[in-house]
Amino acid sequence: MMSTIRPGHAIATPGSRNRFAVDVRDFLTQHPRQLPSRYLYDELGSALFEAICRLPWYPLTRAELRLLEAHAREILNVGVTTAIELGSGSGAKLSALIAAAGSGRGRLDVHLVDVSESALAQARGALESFENVRILTHETTYEIGLLESVLARPFPGRRLVLFLGSNIGNFDPPGRDAFLGSVRAALDAGDGFLLGADLIKPERKLLLAYDDPLGVTAAFNLNLLSRINRELQGNLDLDGFAHHALWNEARSRIEMHLRSNRRQRIDIRGADLDFVMAEGEMIWTESSYKYDPPEIVSMVERSGFSVRAQWIDAVGRFALTLAEAV
Ligand code: AVJ
Repeated sequence: MMSTIRPGHAIATPGSRNRFAVDVRDFLTQHPRQLPSRYLYDELGSALFEAICRLPWYPLTRAELRLLEAHAREILNVGVTTAIELGSGSGAKLSALIAAAGSGRGRLDVHLVDVSESALAQARGALESFENVRILTHETTYEIGLLESVLARPFPGRRLVLFLGSNIGNFDPPGRDAFLGSVRAALDAGDGFLLGADLIKPERKLLLAYDDPLGVTAAFNLNLLSRINRELQGNLDLDGFAHHALWNEARSRIEMHLRSNRRQRIDIRGADLDFVMAEGEMIWTESSYKYDPPEIVSMVERSGFSVRAQWIDAVGRFALTLAEAV
């Protein structure tokens, strides 16, 4: 279907309430019903995600931090003058990387791209104390933030795009390839790309990471319904839904769903939406694809990069892949 932008008609920017309403309506009426995972990150959702990162059952963040610290000098070598982090969250990883790189680093422009205003404020705070670092924030989607960052290039030198935390896992394979292609297209030959991706591991471990005994991940998932109630005048009863995580082995992904415990009428006034959910019916809220190390190398190289290094952590089974645009 074609869509046209009429002059004088307000264009919904991603992250605005209008866009949220449109997406809730579009995605909840699809089969299966779904919601884009980026809406998990309102202020409360971002705080719940930060709590997830500290859970003993969610090893991704700690594993990645250790790899970043161990290889900081190679990642942030003297040639890098612009770092662009897509989905920066709290800024903890980038600040650990800059700290571990130590002296010998020149001036650095840091572009932080995130859909969460509260996460950006926190990241700014985490990075503010570094000398010779200028912080620029972009409260928007990866694609728009990347373009804004690249256009704002103020002085010569190499750029490094960081896409960490296994955020890549949220894309399905076609979306992932399109995304990697757009990262490559935004860069010049010689610029860098650092990708953090979670690896395939035993199902029991994967499920514990996405269905933790403390119920923090369940709260993170259910908060999406609560956000709909708050921002779009929904009537959703959180007791009527349960968090459900599963490992889809054929697709190599964890899926998060919200399962309706009973037949219930859903009314979301702000999205002009009214429908009935059957007992057992699900709303699919997130995919987290898991990879094997060679697969990561090939998808990055297929997108126009040459892989310089890949580091794998034995405890968390997490991979950091450093590549250069060719
Ligand atoms: C931030 C998208 C990488 O998929 O592991 C954590 C989000 N979801 N627990 C992930 C998440 C459930 C996370 N990413």
